[in-house]
Amino acid sequence: MSDTHIEHSYVPYSHKPRTCVVESNSGKFYSGVRIENISYPLTIPAVQAACAICLSEGDIPSKLYLNDHEYEQLNFWQKEFELELIYEDDLPTYNADDLFKTDPHIHASVKLKELLQRAVVPNSDFPVSALLFTQNGYFEGVNIEVSDWTRGLCAERIALAKAITAGITEFERLEIHTRKGQVSSPCGACRQVITEFMPISKLILHHADHTTSEHFMNDLLPFNFTSDSLR
Ligand code: THU
Repeated sequence: MSDTHIEHSYVPYSHKPRTCVVESNSGKFYSGVRIENISYPLTIPAVQAACAICLSEGDIPSKLYLNDHEYEQLNFWQKEFELELIYEDDLPTYNADDLFKTDPHIHASVKLKELLQRAVVPNSDFPVSALLFTQNGYFEGVNIEVSDWTRGLCAERIALAKAITAGITEFERLEIHTRKGQVSSPCGACRQVITEFMPISKLILHHADHTTSEHFMNDLLPFNFTSDSLR
């Protein structure tokens, strides 16, 4: 789980893998890969994944390393953060291990509350946190909002994007928290994206009133869209 691996892209529909690396203004590197969805418009482009992951770590994107000439959303993210674009065949080395946490004593509800501080929510003032567990560790996610509302990403999808970029696709459970609102519950778009990777996994929802509820993904998105006839 080191370096940037274009083969971690999830591109079963287009077969067009993409990866890129963001350098933050504090000098750290964050990679992103293209993550497609059977509902094509829910695809997370590599540039969005890398920039959103950087922001979710409390960092600001500054430079973007690219090794291809076609990237979705490139113009938007370049303008949003005045990114310097650097085209190189060999992208900077990136260690995905940094974002995979293995603390065996993690207390999910405490961690989820702490994480809310990292959410970037200038539009909604509605922070959300997520923990995506594998057998040996977990990935953290918070929601990210940018000037264009349609380019932000939910906490659940940020955690998933980190994992896929790191080459991890086997998950045990997802835990989600919001401290406002009636319930913590993944939005429809997140349900669609999560289902593609963990259709039978457990979700633990930590509600604002300190109660929790447990669900299975396939109960939260019954009769979901599927087709073997997509081009
Ligand atoms: N949000 C999440 O992060 N996850 C969800 O499942 C629900 C919505 C975020 C997106 C946006 O930043 C804010 O909450 C309001 O929609």
